[in-house]
Amino acid sequence: MVKITYFGHSCFLIEGSKGKIIIDPFLKGNPHVKVNPNEISVDAILVTHGHQDHLGDTIEISKKNHAPVISVYELVQHCLAKGAERGHGMNIGGSYRFDFGEVYITPALHSSSTGEGTYTGNPCGFILRIDNKTIYHAGDTGLSTEMNLIGELHNIDVAFLPIGDNFTMGPADAAKAVELLKPKMAIPMHYKTFPEIDQDPEDFADKVGDLAKVKIMGFGETYEL
Ligand code: NI
Ligand code: MN
Repeated sequence: MVKITYFGHSCFLIEGSKGKIIIDPFLKGNPHVKVNPNEISVDAILVTHGHQDHLGDTIEISKKNHAPVISVYELVQHCLAKGAERGHGMNIGGSYRFDFGEVYITPALHSSSTGEGTYTGNPCGFILRIDNKTIYHAGDTGLSTEMNLIGELHNIDVAFLPIGDNFTMGPADAAKAVELLKPKMAIPMHYKTFPEIDQDPEDFADKVGDLAKVKIMGFGETYEL
């Protein structure tokens, strides 16, 4: 059994039998979920790209938990330079088996740099294999034909997809992504945090229709997969 908690925006806490990870821990400054980064207890931090609404409190959480930052190489180097305790650099197409499960890095059609303009490599998404479940976190991305291949190669149980539009896919493109990825379930993310991404997850659910089950997670809600 895998426990998924949604902390709003693109941040998910995932708990399997062999460990706990957090993805894109944008906690301080998140208007919907008040979570103190100090209260986060994890074995690893996965980050999709260098933008502040994803990198968020990564450094602080890494230090406090002595936990590695897992991402593309350049972003990991940046985190280590900024004080992250440990890091594991990867790149697109690569996979690695960690204690908590396996991570495979997928491409994302986006950009990646820090607020100060530091280059942090290419943006990415993650395919996670934890306790025999396959979870896809798309990161920030536009719709891409790569998703066709990701769907063909991986039997996705649940896909976290951005629907906010403006910076990423909107509801219509995200519904098309579901058609390509063929997950059993889709969970919308990256919406309502800022005025530019004020999209309705019900609109996404309508557009997905019968292609997959859509689970709209409340901010702070936990779901058992
Ligand atoms: Ni971004
Ligand atoms: Mn973003």
